[in-house]
Amino acid sequence: MKESVGVSGPVASPAPLAECPEWRAFLQAAKAADRGAQVLRVVEAAGLHLDLSAQAWSEDLRQAGEALLAARGFDDARRTLLEGGIANVTEHRAAWHTALRAEPSPVPEVGVERDRVRAFVRRVDGDGRYKSVLHIGIGGSDWGPKLVVSALGYAGARREVRFVANIDGHAMEAGVLGLDPHATLVVVSSKSFSTIETMRNAERAIEWLRDGGVAEPMAQVAAVTSNVAAAQKLGVPAEQIFRFWDWAGGRYSVWSSIGLPIALALGAEALDGLLEGAAAMDAHFARAPLSGNAPVQLALAGLANRSAFGYATYNIAPYDARLGNLVPYLQQLEMESLGKSVDVGGATVTVPTGPVVWGMPGTDGQHTFFQWLHQGPEGAPVDFIICREADHPYPEHHRLLVANCLAQREALLRGKSVAELVPEQRTKAANDDEARWLACHKAHHGGRPSNLIVLPRLAPQALGALLALYEHKVFVQGAVWGIDVYDQWGVEYGKVLATGIAAELGGGPAGEHDVSTAYWVGRWK
Ligand code: F6P
Repeated sequence: MKESVGVSGPVASPAPLAECPEWRAFLQAAKAADRGAQVLRVVEAAGLHLDLSAQAWSEDLRQAGEALLAARGFDDARRTLLEGGIANVTEHRAAWHTALRAEPSPVPEVGVERDRVRAFVRRVDGDGRYKSVLHIGIGGSDWGPKLVVSALGYAGARREVRFVANIDGHAMEAGVLGLDPHATLVVVSSKSFSTIETMRNAERAIEWLRDGGVAEPMAQVAAVTSNVAAAQKLGVPAEQIFRFWDWAGGRYSVWSSIGLPIALALGAEALDGLLEGAAAMDAHFARAPLSGNAPVQLALAGLANRSAFGYATYNIAPYDARLGNLVPYLQQLEMESLGKSVDVGGATVTVPTGPVVWGMPGTDGQHTFFQWLHQGPEGAPVDFIICREADHPYPEHHRLLVANCLAQREALLRGKSVAELVPEQRTKAANDDEARWLACHKAHHGGRPSNLIVLPRLAPQALGALLALYEHKVFVQGAVWGIDVYDQWGVEYGKVLATGIAAELGGGPAGEHDVSTAYWVGRWK
């Protein structure tokens, strides 16, 4: 159980949010604001259009949002982030992902490493030996490249990239199925180069090369890491180790050498485009006035939804079959960053923080959980994400996709009341009572908030801008809540317990457990 600690650590807590007058004024203004999309609010940022019209809005709310940001020190926090100051206070380091995509980068080594990655990809392309890449990594060392390769390489890539993340041996078995060991490059990506899943899977992959008759397996292994010494210890050739830095958080690292599989699958131009789009969003975030600042407005809408309207979850609905991996990518980004209960000073946060993030591409989601979104008592804010232009040759399909996206959004917002439905049901029902009964079943709550994000098309630039939009939105919310969005201590405890249990299962001494865990450890032994 989490107890609130009286804290006198190295970092001071901000004023408790629940007692902050600007917070109260913000919530009050949100509750009083129009929620019926009476004002068109479209913000343009880095080529994307963000339509916030279906969120609570009023002039008072705009002012209250800006006063809240000022009260929480947003300007200074943003400067610290963008200038590479200590944004990650509990690990005492920067969270300088923007330096990874700036051109030129303020960190000269970034440019050097970018060049090394590109030279390596040219060498691999020129050599023509590798038909496939087996990528080993998990979490932030997996979701980013997997998302980009699956989204932009949906219709084929230069070479197949298989992603193996899970420690479940079935993942490895499926990962190598049908691959030719002599024509496969293994890429091991891990910031720490100590994550148990990645290390074990890397060992299996090297074994697989050796068992497949590869005379020098390590010559076919590349590594991406901030722990170069560990990669060298594994035997990865120095010229095939690509580094990044501890100031690039795992879930913010797709912009670093972690993007290597993207370049191997889609060419270095795809990686360049991704960085360019993200850098354009960084420039927008740094300079656009608050009322037209897309990440800021997305964040404020999310804060109102979480605290003024009590939505505990947040749905991501990409109306693009290529963006299936965007959902887990954003789950990690949002929930590892915002799933915190204490502020930077260690005091308990007095309001709810990050919501549960979930979703699925539309239109599949419509046949899975949209019923709940429309008629369940709680509902959830939804981010609808769609491309203006499709890249396939079936215009009719895109017309229907767009129509469904807009229609679902409209239905969530507009709703349909019993009073509206009764006359319609009269023609279908035997009598007035039955008409009313049917109307009750068919009524839609309405008033449910959503955002619409329109990308011109799914090009690398647009995808980069989209991911950076969410990164900055998360940052703004963290600044208001006063939490460290760049650490993830909550994943450590389970890892420690798993190490102990694994030792017990392997014959080690019994540890101290609750009755159920002790029972199952015993059964497996
Ligand atoms: O899930 C916990 C975590 O530390 C993530 O933050 C990180 O992205 C992932 O593990 C993988 O870590 P690494 O890149 O060090 O293997």
